[in-house]
Amino acid sequence: MRNNIVAGNWKMHKDLKETKELIEGIKKGLNNSEKGTSRVIVATSFVSLTTAVDAIKESIIEVAAQNIHQENAGAFTGEVAASMVKSSGVGVVILGHSERRTYFGESNALLSKKVKQALANDLEVIFCFGELLEHRKENKHFSIVEEQLKEGLFNLSAQDFGNIVLAYEPVWAIGTGETATPEQAQEMHAFIRNVLAKKYGEEVANTISILYGGSVKPNNAKEIFSKPDVDGGLIGGASLQAEDFVAIANSF
Ligand code: PGA
Repeated sequence: MRNNIVAGNWKMHKDLKETKELIEGIKKGLNNSEKGTSRVIVATSFVSLTTAVDAIKESIIEVAAQNIHQENAGAFTGEVAASMVKSSGVGVVILGHSERRTYFGESNALLSKKVKQALANDLEVIFCFGELLEHRKENKHFSIVEEQLKEGLFNLSAQDFGNIVLAYEPVWAIGTGETATPEQAQEMHAFIRNVLAKKYGEEVANTISILYGGSVKPNNAKEIFSKPDVDGGLIGGASLQAEDFVAIANSF
């Protein structure tokens, strides 16, 4: 069985006080509900990680980082290593987000190195990928996604792949208020699972959680999550309000 996962990507939001407050709000909301996802994750800034790790105690919430450097130590001013993230009590890192790819020039080849470094330090990876609007218009979205998977991840062993969560995020849907339709999400997620099955076999493909990301909100989460190959969501804007995030986490 695959895990249902709802992960909040806080991006460059929330200082220490706000981190505590938001986690308290999410905790309260989750405690008061019977339903929900099997895993709830919040990805904070590096500065907030230890505060968040402290705040999630006695809850099902897990903390993730939003990036790591590809090397594990060295003269890289301003960067953060996987081992440092791990030592802060965090077990998960988001890699490959479209904002990292676009604004920080992260290529599939670089991401492949970051993934290896994360796994070597015992961090689970939420690996993001997805096509631009122009790719979809030119009907290249399937080939772009396949290329991102192959170049970013397919040098991993089947065993290592067990520590990867995939997050399909069509770039045209991120922060735009425009979501993929549940059918478009399912179509792509089924394609992704098929690509995984060809590389790693059906059994592995069926155990990998594939999240959808891009303008998921309380009013559309249920329908998107109801699709058979959609195992949850990576939530940006709507993860910054406890009430909205909890409502999404309870949408299964
Ligand atoms: P959004 O962001 O939910 O605000 O569209 C999703 C993401 O960037 O992961």
